Amino acid sequence: MTDKIRVPDLLRMKAEGRRITMLTAYDYPFARIFDAAGVDALLVGDSLGMTVQGQQSTLPVTVDQVIYHVQMVARGRRRALVIADMPFLSYQASIEQALLNAGRLIKEGGAEAVKLEGGATIAPTVRRLSEIDVPVMGHIGLTPQSVHRMGGFRVQGRAARPGVRPPEMLLKDAAALEEAGVFAIVLEAIPAPVAAEITAQVRVPTIGIGAGPACDGQVLVMHDLLGLTACDPPRFAKVYAALWREAGEAAGRYLADVREGRFPGPENSYQD
Ligand code: KIV
Repeated sequence: MTDKIRVPDLLRMKAEGRRITMLTAYDYPFARIFDAAGVDALLVGDSLGMTVQGQQSTLPVTVDQVIYHVQMVARGRRRALVIADMPFLSYQASIEQALLNAGRLIKEGGAEAVKLEGGATIAPTVRRLSEIDVPVMGHIGLTPQSVHRMGGFRVQGRAARPGVRPPEMLLKDAAALEEAGVFAIVLEAIPAPVAAEITAQVRVPTIGIGAGPACDGQVLVMHDLLGLTACDPPRFAKVYAALWREAGEAAGRYLADVREGRFPGPENSYQD
């Protein structure tokens, strides 16, 4: 599996009914591991604020921090498409700022595309980025940068109530993003039937996370995939390993070996 994945490949995969795989990654070793496993796209998500930095939300993440992580991921990637998240306030204040920050993620970070949260209201920004050939992935539904407006990390696409965007708005958002030029749209925490309707409505691929099986692809946060979290993962995640527990156990065995004189042994020591 050596053919480099590029932006048009994702559109081709939707047209051919081939499911797209995406994982978040934030550093060199995991980028290499996931790339070698054959993942199609690596997202350097602003989720790094929570998964790597231990913050309560993604809001404090800066452009400089995303660039630092994209550089590591780009070095570890051979085949996968590398997409960088645009963090909070890096694209909302003005289109000019959005262009400059997206440019930095590509020029300094090595990203091949950027991802922006939001629907119809950010369509003009998406259009301008697309006009200067910056590939943009959209992100609608539960948009973590809107945590305060939503009143928490809440499932979207349900009947209208404060903090919840109803299904008809999400359909309009998806149409506006497609019209503005996105090459794919992340659908996060949306009831499966609503995500299926959006997926059928747009020509660009949808990548679901907590949005059911009808999406054209799926993305998981790597810490959820690997069981690398201190608390329970979200309901929609599937956990394929138990690295948090295993890392704690490995550290515990090392501490015991040192304290009880089993490490270092002769095989770990230089004799001359
Ligand atoms: O920041 C992130 O990791 C994301 C994914 C959840 C899609 O936006």
